[in-house]
Amino acid sequence: MNETNKPVHGMWTSRWVFILAATGSAVGLGNIWRFPYITGEYGGGAFVLLYLACIALIGVPIMIAEVTLGRRGGLSPIHSMGRLAEQSKVSRRWKGIGYLGALSGFLILSFYSVVASWALIYVWEAVRGLFQGMTALQSQANFEAMQANPWLMLGSHSLFMVLTMGVVALGVKRGLERAVEVLMPLLFVLLVVLIGYAATTPGFAEGVGFLFAFDFSKLSGEAVVIALGQAFFTLSLGMGAIMAYGAYMPREIKDKKTGRTRPVSIGSSVVIIAALDTLVALGAGLAMFPLLFTGNLEPAQGPGMMFVTLPLAFGQMPGGVLFGSLFFVLVVCAAWTSSISLGEPMVAWLVERGRGRGAAALLVGGAAWVLGIGSVLSFNLWKDHTFLMGTFFENIEFLSTSILLPLGGLLIALFAGWVMKETQARKELAMKSFALYMAWRALVRIFSPLAMIAVIAYAIWSAAHG
Ligand code: PFF
Repeated sequence: MNETNKPVHGMWTSRWVFILAATGSAVGLGNIWRFPYITGEYGGGAFVLLYLACIALIGVPIMIAEVTLGRRGGLSPIHSMGRLAEQSKVSRRWKGIGYLGALSGFLILSFYSVVASWALIYVWEAVRGLFQGMTALQSQANFEAMQANPWLMLGSHSLFMVLTMGVVALGVKRGLERAVEVLMPLLFVLLVVLIGYAATTPGFAEGVGFLFAFDFSKLSGEAVVIALGQAFFTLSLGMGAIMAYGAYMPREIKDKKTGRTRPVSIGSSVVIIAALDTLVALGAGLAMFPLLFTGNLEPAQGPGMMFVTLPLAFGQMPGGVLFGSLFFVLVVCAAWTSSISLGEPMVAWLVERGRGRGAAALLVGGAAWVLGIGSVLSFNLWKDHTFLMGTFFENIEFLSTSILLPLGGLLIALFAGWVMKETQARKELAMKSFALYMAWRALVRIFSPLAMIAVIAYAIWSAAHG
């Protein structure tokens, strides 16, 4: 590694590839599986508005901070943070942000693969026309039968992990870059096709109304923290994925037409990523809610919405086999580009410590696969073995997404806002507008840390009060 910021792992070919890769990380199960069902649970439009505010006021500033730290550090999050701590002449303990991120990424990868692999199974079921003419009870039973079958889930979890780590093993250019260049455009096309399909159904207007009618009476303190947590998870913040991707982002790029070099702006790239992520979340809502309303189904279904209610809706509709299959292919693409970003930081760290990429990917993927078996079993053999927050799966999910991610976000905001030298931050960000820079600084120094503390406090409080 040298001062010119050329990491050993290689660089993204262009700013757009960085934007695609980071959007690929951001757009995932959080957008397509989680966002629609929590929006359903918290009553629709007003929650959406709250979520948008959280993305703009907390998500964007922290994402800018993460990319800035990554590009400045130029290495895997652990080594970048060590380097930045040294440059800022503060304790090397700040490297802990990197370790914490690696731990959360590892935990999330283990269960993310399991849930994503349900979508793999559902592609197969949709293609075979299994959802056709199903009743609500049959759909529920179908979901439960899948979860009750540890071998089936182990198989699909294994396949998904191989797909994920296979891409990571190929490296930044040949693996990550190529994957996002194919999968992201495919994802956008599929989403547009599915929204177009939803627009032809009688429930479309009702679905749109549900997403965009703002009924503020439904808002509560709880909705605020849930929206905040969702904004944070959906943008992949707090664990170093975005920091690692930032490290592969060039500072300058040559303009093909003029031949001159231009600085690559972090601020505007992040705004585009956050906007695309939000569009996909809203698009997923637009593709799903009309189908539910058309089938007279409840939008407040909870986590089963995508796997129980939606197949039911597809099963009742003309073209349901085709569009149902496309929908689950979309989910697989989205989850795949996210899980790649969960594995990359740790693999990059091992590579910097002298391992080959293939061996590092095998090690990280293998370990996450083993831990994921605990999540597989949480739905069947270990279903009744509950402790603390519930099953093994529920504990890992709670610890990583409700505690470790916001804790990582808090530390990242504090480091970027208070520890990193101002001159360094300003230089790296190179924002044209001083007012915007000051707004970012205020948000990242005060507002974001307070918000993160609120999310963690709420998580602990709600855990303690069942
Ligand atoms: N942003 C992803 C989603 O919405 O599904 C999840 C995620 C990926 C979280 C990568 C954190 C991360 F580092």
